[in-house]
Amino acid sequence: MTKELEALLKEKRIFDPSDDVVNNSNIKRWMNDRGINTYDELLERARDQNWFWGEMGRELEWFEPWNNVLEWNPPHAKWFIGGKFNIVHNALDRHMKTWRKNKVAYIWEGEPGDIRKITYYSLYREVNKFANALKSLGVKKGDKVSIYLPMIPELPIAMLACAKIGAIHSVVFSGFSARAFRQRVNDAGAKIAITVDGFYRRGKVIPLKESADEALKDAPSVEHLIVVRRAGNDIEMDEDRDIWWDELIEGQSVVCDTEIMDSEDMLFILYTSGTTGKPKGVVHVHGGYAVGTHATLKYVFDLKDDDRWWCAADIGWVTGHSYIVYAPLMLGATSIMYEGAPDYPKPDRIWDMVGRHGVTVFYTAPTMIRMFMKYGDKWPKRHDLSSLRLLGSVGEPINPEAWVWYYKKIGRERCPIMDTWWQTETGSFILTPLPITPLKPGSATKPFPSFEADVLNDDGEPITGRGGHLVIKTPWPAMLRTLYKDPERYVRQYWSTFPGVYLTGDVARKDEDGYFWLQGREDDVLNVAGHRIGSAEVESALVSHPKVAEAAVVGKPDPVRGEVIAALVILRSDVNPSPDLKDELRNHVGREIGPIAKPSMIGFVKDLPKTRSGKIMRRIIKAKIKGEPIGDISTLANPEAVAALDEMV
Ligand code: PRX
Repeated sequence: MTKELEALLKEKRIFDPSDDVVNNSNIKRWMNDRGINTYDELLERARDQNWFWGEMGRELEWFEPWNNVLEWNPPHAKWFIGGKFNIVHNALDRHMKTWRKNKVAYIWEGEPGDIRKITYYSLYREVNKFANALKSLGVKKGDKVSIYLPMIPELPIAMLACAKIGAIHSVVFSGFSARAFRQRVNDAGAKIAITVDGFYRRGKVIPLKESADEALKDAPSVEHLIVVRRAGNDIEMDEDRDIWWDELIEGQSVVCDTEIMDSEDMLFILYTSGTTGKPKGVVHVHGGYAVGTHATLKYVFDLKDDDRWWCAADIGWVTGHSYIVYAPLMLGATSIMYEGAPDYPKPDRIWDMVGRHGVTVFYTAPTMIRMFMKYGDKWPKRHDLSSLRLLGSVGEPINPEAWVWYYKKIGRERCPIMDTWWQTETGSFILTPLPITPLKPGSATKPFPSFEADVLNDDGEPITGRGGHLVIKTPWPAMLRTLYKDPERYVRQYWSTFPGVYLTGDVARKDEDGYFWLQGREDDVLNVAGHRIGSAEVESALVSHPKVAEAAVVGKPDPVRGEVIAALVILRSDVNPSPDLKDELRNHVGREIGPIAKPSMIGFVKDLPKTRSGKIMRRIIKAKIKGEPIGDISTLANPEAVAALDEMV
C-alpha cells in the first residue's frame, strides 16, 4: 500500500464534490425547483414513493397516463398501472420532433479503428427497417427473439426493433459459448435468432456464426437465423434457415408504427447466473424499467445535451442494456460504443478514445481500473483527459486504492466517482451517490432517493457497523417482475428469507453515517471481472468432460480480476492427472460456457468435503484455497476429505 493511501484511510477523508459540480447538476436544479435544499432533505422527501416516481414518470411521454403509480402486493409490484407506453417511443420516436433528430446517438468505434457516427434520425430509420423486416418473418407482439451479437450497432438496432413491435428480446453475451446460447434460446423459446459472421477481438476474427450454428442444431423453436455481415469471414449459410441482415432489410419501409404497450408488458428477458446450474431469466417491463433507468442516469451521471457518455460495458450484460441502450437514448444523449478489447492494440486504447471523442462522463468496472493501474500511469498521462467531468464504477466493490488512483490519474482530482451498486434484477442503480453526495472511497454511499436499503443479521434485525445481508425494503420501478417460466423461484430466491423484503445476495456493512460498504456475494455466485458466474454452472461443465467424476468450484481472490475461478476435480478412476489434462479441462469449460468461465487454477483431489445430504461444502474449500482457518466441520459427512485437499496435485 502506498504511504499516501495509508494516510488517506487513516484520516477517513470525505471527498466533497466541488460547488461547481453541485450547482450545475441536474439533481440540484430539480431540488431547487421544489424547494429542497440538502441531500438529506431530498432523501427524506423522496420517501413518498408515489410522489417521487410520479414526478420521474412525467419526464417521459405516455400514450395514455397511468391511474396509480404503484400497486404493491408483496412480493409483486406493478408500476404506472393503466399507463400506455413504449420505451422505444421515448428512446427514438419523440426525438424526431425536436432538434435532437440530427444529434449523434452513437459514435461507434470498431477494434480495427473504423468509426460510424449514427444520428438519432438514422438510428430511427434503421430500427424501423429492421422492425419491418422482423414483421415480414412473422414476428408479432410477445414473440421472443434471441440476439447473439457483439458490440456492433446492429445490436442496439435489433433490441430497439423488437421492443418497437412488442417482441421480447433476449440478448446473450457474445463471449458465451454455443452451449450457453442454446440453453438460453431454448428456455426463451425464441422464434428468431440473430448473430454475426464474425467480429474483432485482440486483432483476431471471432467466428460467432459457427457457435450459433452449433447452438441451433438443437433449438427447435428457431425458424430463422439472421446474420449481420461484419468481419467478412467465410461462413456457411443454411439456405432454408439463414438470412443476411442486409438482404433482409433491403427495400423495407423506413416507417413503422410503434406498438402501444401496457406499462407492465414484458420488454426483455436477460439471463443471469444463480446458485444452480440453470441460469435465471430475469424479466423486465416497458414502463417502470424506462422510468427507473432514465431517472438514475439523468440524476446520477448528470447527463446534459452537450455530454459524451461512455459506459464501457458490453450490451450483453445488464449494464449495457440499461445504460448503453435504453437510458441514454431516452435522454437523447451521445454515447460512445466500442467493439474491442480495452487494451488493444496498446494499454492506452481507452484513454486515446476518451481524448479523441472528448468523452465527458466515463463509467467502467473496478477490474478495468486495476488493470490500467498495473499498466502504469504513463499510459493515461499521454492523453488529454481534460474533457472528463464525472466518473463511474460498477460490478464489484472498488477497493480504496483503485478508487484513489482513478480519482487522481484519470479524473485528475476534479471528477467525483459514482460507485453504483446494482444487479441484473434491479434494472437500475440502487446504492449510488449523486453528484451532490460527499464521497468515501470504497463506499457505494447511500440508496438512490426513494429506495430503502438496509443490512440485516440472520434474525432479520437491522445492524450497523457489522457485515450482514444487504436487503431492499421497498419496491422500485425498474425491479424485475419475475423469473421467466419460474415464478416460484422468484419468490423463493429473493423474497422468502425475510418475507416482504428483497434479498440481494450480497454482504454489506452500514457505517454510522448510513453509508454502505459492499463486501461481496454471500451465495455460490462468483464475480469474475465484474461478471456473474454460478459455481454450479462451471461444475456442471467440468463434470460433462468424460474424464471427470466430480468437481467443486470456488472463487479465489485476485488483485486485478476481483475473483478468479479455482476448481477442484476428482478424476475418473482410470485417468491419471497431468498438466495437459488441466489445459484440456480449461478449454472444455471455455467451450461449454465461454472463455470468462475458464478456471485459473485446477487441482486434482481424491475426495471433496460434503454435507450429509451430499452437498459440496464450498466454504471449506474456499478457506483451504485462501489459506484461512477451516472453521466448523461438524456438519461434514466425510471429515477425511479435508486432509485429502492437502494432497491436491
Ligand atoms: O455482488 C454485486 C456486484 O455485482 C452483482 C450483480 O451482478 P450483475 O447482475 O451481473 O450486474 C452487474 C452490473 C450491475 C451484485 O450482486 N456489484 C455490482 N455493482 C457493485 C457490486 N459490488 C460492489 N459494488 C458495486 N458498485
